[in-house]
Amino acid sequence: MVAALSCKRLRPDVDAVYLELQGREDITDPIYQEAPVSQDRVIIFDTTLRDGEQSPGASMTKEEKLRIAKALEKLRVDVIEAGFAIASPGDFEAVKAIADTIQDSTVCSLSRAVDADIDRAAEALANANSGRIHTFIATSPIHMQHKLRLAPDQVVEQAVRAVKRARNLCEDVEFSCEDAGRSEIDFLCRIIEAAIDAGARTINIPDTVGYAIPHQFAETIRQIIERVPNADRAVFSVHCHNDLGLAVANSLAAVTAGARQVECTINGLGERAGNASLEEIVMAIKTRHDVLGVHTRIVTENILSASRLVSGITGFPVQPNKAIVGANAFAHESGIHQDGVLKHRETYEIMSAQSVGWHTNRLSLGKLSGRNAFRSRLEELGIQLPGEAELNAAFARFKELADKKHEIFDEDLQALVSDTLTEVVEHVRLAYLEVGSRTGEIPEARIVLNVDGKEVEGRAQGSGPVDATFKAIESVFPSNANLQLYSVNAITQGTDSQGEVTVRLEKAGRIVNGNGADTDIVVASAKAYLNALNLMQTGAHKAHPQAAGV
Ligand code: KIV
Ligand code: ZN
Repeated sequence: MVAALSCKRLRPDVDAVYLELQGREDITDPIYQEAPVSQDRVIIFDTTLRDGEQSPGASMTKEEKLRIAKALEKLRVDVIEAGFAIASPGDFEAVKAIADTIQDSTVCSLSRAVDADIDRAAEALANANSGRIHTFIATSPIHMQHKLRLAPDQVVEQAVRAVKRARNLCEDVEFSCEDAGRSEIDFLCRIIEAAIDAGARTINIPDTVGYAIPHQFAETIRQIIERVPNADRAVFSVHCHNDLGLAVANSLAAVTAGARQVECTINGLGERAGNASLEEIVMAIKTRHDVLGVHTRIVTENILSASRLVSGITGFPVQPNKAIVGANAFAHESGIHQDGVLKHRETYEIMSAQSVGWHTNRLSLGKLSGRNAFRSRLEELGIQLPGEAELNAAFARFKELADKKHEIFDEDLQALVSDTLTEVVEHVRLAYLEVGSRTGEIPEARIVLNVDGKEVEGRAQGSGPVDATFKAIESVFPSNANLQLYSVNAITQGTDSQGEVTVRLEKAGRIVNGNGADTDIVVASAKAYLNALNLMQTGAHKAHPQAAGV
């Protein structure tokens, strides 16, 4: 039986795009009148929390996802794909929490084209101010034959049934033709026409395996829009993967061919080589309006902080030469360039660093700041601690940090509260750490851990102080996990900056990322290692959306 739940209607400004495309400006319903009607608007659909989370090692807790969702809302992303509700109870709870909280963006859940997935998605989205069910089925010969083991007619039938079921539960339904990049155009036109007739308002054409080439992908989109008889009743979307490094180029080429929704992720996170990067798509659209002639509603000044938040939470560092958000993106090394920029910025800069949020990190608080100032700055940053006890604990840590570090920036505050916001049962905690490291001698660590309330001590030597610390932890709390990644990033500038450490551990195919921050990077490393060990103890296995059956 279909669950007696449905998500509410679309956000009006997104709806307006459909209206214009359908040529129905005469509609008098006020919800349609509020919105600026524009064919030139590209809907930004962010899938950091769903496809981004499919990056090995990028799994996030519910609280972390909620923090990212709030940052995406602040960016004014149109649609947030919050997860794949049926994947696990944890995924369901995360989609639900985001749907219950977010007001200004449409919240979407992915679902395969099967009843149970669709019903679970609708249940998670029930309280959304604006919800969307995104259902998909593979359409390429290789996927239909080898993965689904279904004939093309059966695939069309399943897609239509899924879209109809979703439309009974939610007004806003998106249908995706998985592996469209390798599908036959005639079949794509047939299934898309059927999906629109069944009630899909957005049709997504994913290049699932990153196979497309820009001019060819644009031609596919153009032909689909021309050939599908009811194409004017849907918004066409693209979702490009980066296997050949062409995800952004393919997405923009599709926009020139009529696509009006782009699916993308912060920092280009995503399955394998990732998805099209949100910041690159948005800034290309903004900077080259002269060529592309379209716009988004993204508040570009919030891009850098969203990028840092996603990188900090997932432990995926941003490469220094990454466009828009890399540390070197606006740094000029050559003397000629520096001279040019000083004389006239636009000689070597096509957009300003400020327009994407650089140079805006402001001095937040200092040693003498009180508890109220601390609380209100957190509120301004959109951080809400669960209760007074957590606020007091965070304030005590802030005072400790302020003793060591003269100036506290917003980034410091975000790192400071991130453990409090992450709901991990702490079986093991750091009580004491002493590390000896001298030239010509073998570094040694002595550690005291609190394991389920009992203090235990361990010692070990290592090739460096961090290695010795990790070995000392393992001597007390053996995990037998493989260390896959260790990275340190300075949170702010200067040698008094806090170091933010990410540790990625793998055990029996399960990957977790632990994070820790401290002005002492060995302590930060120990915290990150222990955070990963605690995460290893919790969390259930989840289904992968692209797995064949249910
Ligand atoms: O890459 C893909 O095809 C997807 C779909 C589920 C939209 O992520
Ligand atoms: Zn994808």
